[in-house]
Amino acid sequence: MSVERVQKVIAASGYCSRRKAEELIKKGLVYINGNIANLGDKVSGNDYIEVEGNAISEKQDKVYYLLNKPRGVITSTTDDKGRKTVVDLIADNRRIYPVGRLDYDTTGLIIITNDGELANLLTHPKNNIDKVYIAKIEGLITKGNIRTLENGVVIDGKKTAKSKAKILKADKKSNTSIVELTIHEGRNHQVKNMFKALGYNVIKLKRERISFLTVDGLSSGDYRQLSIHEVKKLYNEAKD
Ligand code: URA
Repeated sequence: MSVERVQKVIAASGYCSRRKAEELIKKGLVYINGNIANLGDKVSGNDYIEVEGNAISEKQDKVYYLLNKPRGVITSTTDDKGRKTVVDLIADNRRIYPVGRLDYDTTGLIIITNDGELANLLTHPKNNIDKVYIAKIEGLITKGNIRTLENGVVIDGKKTAKSKAKILKADKKSNTSIVELTIHEGRNHQVKNMFKALGYNVIKLKRERISFLTVDGLSSGDYRQLSIHEVKKLYNEAKD
């Protein structure tokens, strides 16, 4: 390791952001070789850095979690309103973050990692990664509107890319339909807005699948680590 400012080394380790590292230094919670660090102190590979009692290693191992997100949890690393985040649900102190976003009231599959490269690959629409949603909507959807969803609807002046849509259930009694929608983009509130563009209100939304990954076997709020094999497969699918 070359000689670098201590806050940069802490951020590079994945422990926290550089700004947060600066705050911790100011609070006297960072030590270099047993001495309290000052902002701007420089360190090299021979120095021993400790932050809030944790030793900092040069490079963070990559971790990958698959969470079955419950309702009422936000897809973020922190929340200024103090709401629970998806990262709070995972017993891991590393600087992990969610890939893409699910709304507060949306449930289902979300990947949480510290691998920025994979996060970028999975969220880039050109990589054609399937994101499969199950939406319960008000009203009985028509076959014509299913085709319109597939061909793209205009949201905020921009047409959505081609998708796949399938009616799973249409219940006259409750006047609701359940639709499976497969998209490759990840615009804000995309699924809700696609239905809204056709006059349907989404009552419930779940992400069922990303590429070959599902939440099968995971109860709401549960998570598991991805295997090395699954991570490699995701890289391959995204780069195809
Ligand atoms: N589309 C939405 O509208 N909401 C989500 O949470 C995910 C996709």
